[in-house]
Amino acid sequence: MSTTTLDPVERMLDAAEKGITLIKNREILHFTYIPEMIFHRDTEQALVTQSLMPILKKSRPSNLLVYGKPGTGKTLVVKKILSKIQARVEKSKFPIKLVYVNSKEETTLYQLLVSFGRQLGLDEKEIPSTGLAISEVFKRLLKTIDRNHLNAVFVIDEIDYLADLVKKTGKDILYQLTRANDRLKKGSLTFVGISNDLTFKERLDPRVLSTLGEEEVVFATYSVEQIKKILEARIEQAFVKGAVEDSALNLCSALAGREHGDVRRAIDLLRVAGEIAEREQKTSINENHIRLARNKIEENKEVTALQSFPLHEKLLIIAIMKTTELTTGVIYTAYKGICKTVRQPELTQRRVTQMLSEIELSGIISGRIIHQGIHGNTKKYKLTITRETVKETFKNDLTFEDIL
Ligand SMILES: Nc1ncnc2c1ncn2[C@@H]1O[C@H](COP(=O)(O)OP(=O)(O)O)[C@@H](O)[C@H]1O
Ligand SMILES: [Mg+2]
Repeated sequence: MSTTTLDPVERMLDAAEKGITLIKNREILHFTYIPEMIFHRDTEQALVTQSLMPILKKSRPSNLLVYGKPGTGKTLVVKKILSKIQARVEKSKFPIKLVYVNSKEETTLYQLLVSFGRQLGLDEKEIPSTGLAISEVFKRLLKTIDRNHLNAVFVIDEIDYLADLVKKTGKDILYQLTRANDRLKKGSLTFVGISNDLTFKERLDPRVLSTLGEEEVVFATYSVEQIKKILEARIEQAFVKGAVEDSALNLCSALAGREHGDVRRAIDLLRVAGEIAEREQKTSINENHIRLARNKIEENKEVTALQSFPLHEKLLIIAIMKTTELTTGVIYTAYKGICKTVRQPELTQRRVTQMLSEIELSGIISGRIIHQGIHGNTKKYKLTITRETVKETFKNDLTFEDIL
């Protein structure tokens, strides 16, 4: 026996080098990878292209809203079309600029506008990363567009998050943004908004909606068969031949189909299942690997959600974990007890009731209304995740040492 095999690290590296590999190209399984073939999206590609086409004739396209459930190919299709148009623009030297931001990745509206500015070629001196009023940043963007006679298209992906950013800044800014074109004399500006949320429209100010949604393209959800076809192409590129058993592919497609046709999730499942099977040094991925992958992804999601709550929300979740009679009143009493133990000033019942609704939105707890006759209604909550997950997630935080 060589000495290296005794070292656990060496042993793992040995196995990785000599052992079975199932995933031959990991990048192809990353959600930002742009595949060569886009299946089942001909209509959507045609509609979005048609909507943006006027820009190649130097006229202003209408603002466009693209909708669809997560993982239905919206980002993929729009990015592909942007890059195809951009390629033609570069040849023709038209003063056209197509720029893209994802609002989920920007923490403030200011940053989002700066990101657009940088893509238009404005540097730190022209638009500093902090310090100006939003309206001033906006004015400078418009000035650049006008001065260069630019036809600009601003794509805002996951625009739902922008609505949240805007809530903090004041609603009117969104209206101003979408009406920006009216303020331009020589250039033009078109907005393309992409939303994962089909109810997004209902939340928008009608004035904003009527300008932003001049045109709309809806991405339908994929059927199980369609998901399977997309996955097959991806598998061929990313995995070694025969690495994914048919039954595993079927299960993966069926699970994603149940989740409103989310292809991103299906690809994630395959990747994680592949990693599990490689670790087990199996020659192929079977149904069980897909199930294990699903559990792992679910658990990661729960842990991330738990960790991202502020302190008092965490205390409340612990209170729910520790009580059996789960009416709002009893949870509040338990929460107050916990606050005493960890020496935290308690929040009011009113605020706590509000927080419970917010936590419910995340899916970590679920509530139902209990009618109590003449005593009115109350709400009962329960954890939707296991107590173990809560304990495991919080156990390394010293604040919770005495209460878990
Ligand atoms: N029709 C398709 N053909 C090939 N891959 C697709 C297709 N639709 C979605 N995908 C893949 O699924 C994942 C999610 O797509 P994405 O465009 O990010 O969805 P959305 O923006 O609607 O949430 C990406 O990895 C993407 O490459
Ligand atoms: Mg997207």
